[in-house]
Amino acid sequence: MNVLILGSGGREHAFAHQIAKSNLLNKLFIAPGNAGTALCGTNINLSLNDFDAIRNCAVSLHINLVVVGPEDPLVNGIVDFFENDPLLKNIPIIGPSKKGAQLEGSKDFSKQFMMRHHIPTARYQTFTQAQLKEGLTFLKTLKPPYVLKADGLAAGKGVIISSNLEHASNELTEMLQNLKFGDASSSVVIEEFLNGIELSTFVLTDGNNYLILPEAKDYKRIGDGDTGLNTGGMGAVSPVPFADTNFMKKVEDQIVIPSINGLKKEGITYLGFLFIGLMNIDGNPFVIEYNCRMGDPETEVVLPRIKNDLLELLYKAATGKLNEIKLEIDNQTAATIMLVSGGYPEGYQKGIEINGLDKTFESTVYHAGTKDNNGAVVSNGGRVLAITSLGKNLVEAFNKSYETAAQITFSGKYQRSDLGKDLEKYL
Ligand code: AMP
Ligand code: GLY
Repeated sequence: MNVLILGSGGREHAFAHQIAKSNLLNKLFIAPGNAGTALCGTNINLSLNDFDAIRNCAVSLHINLVVVGPEDPLVNGIVDFFENDPLLKNIPIIGPSKKGAQLEGSKDFSKQFMMRHHIPTARYQTFTQAQLKEGLTFLKTLKPPYVLKADGLAAGKGVIISSNLEHASNELTEMLQNLKFGDASSSVVIEEFLNGIELSTFVLTDGNNYLILPEAKDYKRIGDGDTGLNTGGMGAVSPVPFADTNFMKKVEDQIVIPSINGLKKEGITYLGFLFIGLMNIDGNPFVIEYNCRMGDPETEVVLPRIKNDLLELLYKAATGKLNEIKLEIDNQTAATIMLVSGGYPEGYQKGIEINGLDKTFESTVYHAGTKDNNGAVVSNGGRVLAITSLGKNLVEAFNKSYETAAQITFSGKYQRSDLGKDLEKYL
């Protein structure tokens, strides 16, 4: 099979790394890819918003399966574009329809969906630009902390949690009136604060059957002790020690099954990954958010634990035959730490040379934001490398990743130094 992966981060390198091992693979292409994916296949330089370029590429390269990494092309309707094009409609593609991707593309859509299907989540109300006054009045009826969410995609930055009513009110005004997050905040969801421990579960569905993949926990804040600004993710671990069988059964019964059935009942075509962000409150799961793709860096700890041939798994999902697959999960722990560029998630430099990648490690080094510069690997994003190791528990796995991280250097390199520490009490 010829496979095309769309995206350029650590998630796509992790997909490429696993797919490259498959006996079913003929040629692997990654668009646009990074310096890491270039080690697994051929990078193709195109923009993910340029669907015509993607069409030309899929047709001319005789692609048999497309794997869409990030949310943007899904929310922009790439799956519908394939379905409606005579040359593309027979090429299986992993990802939901534009309507299905609204589970991530609109917080209000996803909250309404959860209400319709009685899926546990925080209570909420949505306010449009014209309803700023009502929104400010509603805030006053809530207890702090206040949770404000831009309705649309805001590159992971659209959620504001504030313990101060005045600050929350100002933020709501900034979002609705001054469009702090552009069009994405022309509607804002205000919801109840959920006090618990977070984790994520990942479902792969062919639209009818589903498999629950290993769960993971990521570390969102830039600073040790979960302090400072939110990032795309500074590290992740799988399995999550507090997600025991009893809890995961509740996740399946109360959340996964009603979500899959709800999509089917509403006639929403949904094939691919459903990433469910959860809060565990005293042993009960609540949905924080849906994403219509895999997580990054969660993919870098979930895929290494899946022992099945990933290409076979994805192809079965894309062709409605997931019932033929039995998942085989490695019961070791996978832990990843993200090396980022100084300044991230605010301003940072690109083009910094990375040293030490040629050494042999006990870890897998996934490239998140890198590119090749005349034979040298240089940084090309805020999140630069994700270093994953397997171990008998999370202490061993994180220790290995930290050892590898110490051997890779670049100017301004930063990483969190406390990953996994919060979970040691559950071991
Ligand atoms: P989201 O983009 O919806 O995942 O939100 C970003 C982060 O904000 C989540 O990962 C949580 O840490 C936090 N968060 C979102 N909604 C809530 C909530 N209702 N209660 C507590 N924390 C929340
Ligand atoms: N790590 C969080 C995400 O991929 O959305």
